[in-house]
Amino acid sequence: MDFPINISSTSDVPLHRQIYEELRRAILSGRLARGKRVPSTREMSKSVGVARATVSMAYDYLLSEGYFEAYRGSGTYVSRQLPDELLEATDDIDDLVEQLPERSTLKTRPRQLSQYGQTLQSKDWLGYPDEEPEIQFTFGRPDLDEFPARIWSQLLTRHCRSRQLWLLDCPTKARGYTPLRNAIADYLAKARAVICEPDQIIIVNGSQQALDLVTRVLVDPGDIVGIEEPGYIGAQKAFHAQGAKLSPVFVDSNGVRVDFLKSRYDISTPDDMKLLYVTPSHQYPTGVSLSLGRRLDLLAWASRTGTIIIEDDYDSEYRYKGKPIPALAGIDSGASVIYIGTFSKVLLPALRLGYLVVPKDLIDVFARAKWLNDRHSSLIQQQVLSDFITEGHMERHIRRMRALYGERRLLMIEALKGLFGSDVTIYGENAGINMLVRFNTDIPDDELVIRARNLGVGISSTRYMYLGDAPHGEYLLNYGGLKDQEIIEGLTRLRAAMDRQETLLPVEAQD
Ligand SMILES: Cc1ncc(COP(=O)(O)O)c(C=O)c1O
Repeated sequence: MDFPINISSTSDVPLHRQIYEELRRAILSGRLARGKRVPSTREMSKSVGVARATVSMAYDYLLSEGYFEAYRGSGTYVSRQLPDELLEATDDIDDLVEQLPERSTLKTRPRQLSQYGQTLQSKDWLGYPDEEPEIQFTFGRPDLDEFPARIWSQLLTRHCRSRQLWLLDCPTKARGYTPLRNAIADYLAKARAVICEPDQIIIVNGSQQALDLVTRVLVDPGDIVGIEEPGYIGAQKAFHAQGAKLSPVFVDSNGVRVDFLKSRYDISTPDDMKLLYVTPSHQYPTGVSLSLGRRLDLLAWASRTGTIIIEDDYDSEYRYKGKPIPALAGIDSGASVIYIGTFSKVLLPALRLGYLVVPKDLIDVFARAKWLNDRHSSLIQQQVLSDFITEGHMERHIRRMRALYGERRLLMIEALKGLFGSDVTIYGENAGINMLVRFNTDIPDDELVIRARNLGVGISSTRYMYLGDAPHGEYLLNYGGLKDQEIIEGLTRLRAAMDRQETLLPVEAQD
């Protein structure tokens, strides 16, 4: 049996691929009918004028993908059911839909969201603009260009090639890849004075998942949860969605005010604070660091009242002056602290890798919560990260980035002072990749945000970070992901936005 096939010996496409494509097209168009016997490889090689091995290769692909069926002693046939059909939904859907009753005649019950769902649906949920401004001071991103992509991809290739397939699918590893947990335990002991056993570490998809698990495991609707005022929206929203009563705890230049906590919540007072969320290394958003005296005081208060402290240590690697103060989890002797770390600032937010360090009595319950949530975080990325840390790449990367961000920070300060003079006060500039500024201006906060956006600059007012009233003119400027030129250009445009004599907001939206 002869079957004409068009192939070109001058094409870049290999001959076996051309034969495969021709035959597949013929099958899909019906030129080669289902169930029809196809020429043998010998016949085909003769008719097309190519080596039999080349034809065999094309046939092997068609067989393995299910376009051909081979029967011993009888030959090769076009399959009766083609693989493409198995991937397509039925096209008889119109007939099915016709049999259903008219939608308008159906009695429908109003949709009833859970309390959690209702909070997520509420209007005060913060959205992101559809289009990002050209120069973005809004997101606390690291410099994405500086992500060590070459090293990362080499390590990834190494693991993909290792063929240790059991490593690619470990459903029992809810707590995370053991070598990574060992590496993190070593890192924490050295860099943060946190001494823990690797078993206490649970790998999660960034701090946000850590907060979600903490909330599920420890917070019931109506529980009082303390949160720094001003504080991190990601934490506020997680606790709020669970139905917690948020209790603002004020922050001054030494960090969270323990005297305030002691006066409001103690064993002798009727209200218990279940949990307190803090960012001691680099308070978000004010940038202050919790003094050692306050840390000790806070821990003593927590163990006396039984309050669990959630320590979010999201960017402590970037500190430009003085030695870091040990993490709360490092000086806690009362098992009061749950520590959260993330690789979002040190490496890349898109990796979605972070970790929890939990007291020993909470290991199992957190591991089960993680398993229920999403089984485990990406094991292949955990393997890469583990090598990245143990082979010294992370320390080198942090050293390099600290120097780079340190220079950007100086540039920010210089440019802010140069452009805004006495109209700006800068806070929290000693650490992190952002800084808090207060502008001396009459322009309402939302108005300045819009004016800046109209000039292609994104800035965030801190008013959404306060549960109560926010000071006027306060903004958090993230500079980690911006190049020098963008910093200068962005701040120059912000100055221009402030100098404009226009009002963009409707009168009632101004405060
Ligand atoms: C206070 C704080 N914690 C944690 C994070 C990082 O979150 P994630 O690890 O979920 O990316 C951020 C990011 O901006 C933050 O500001």
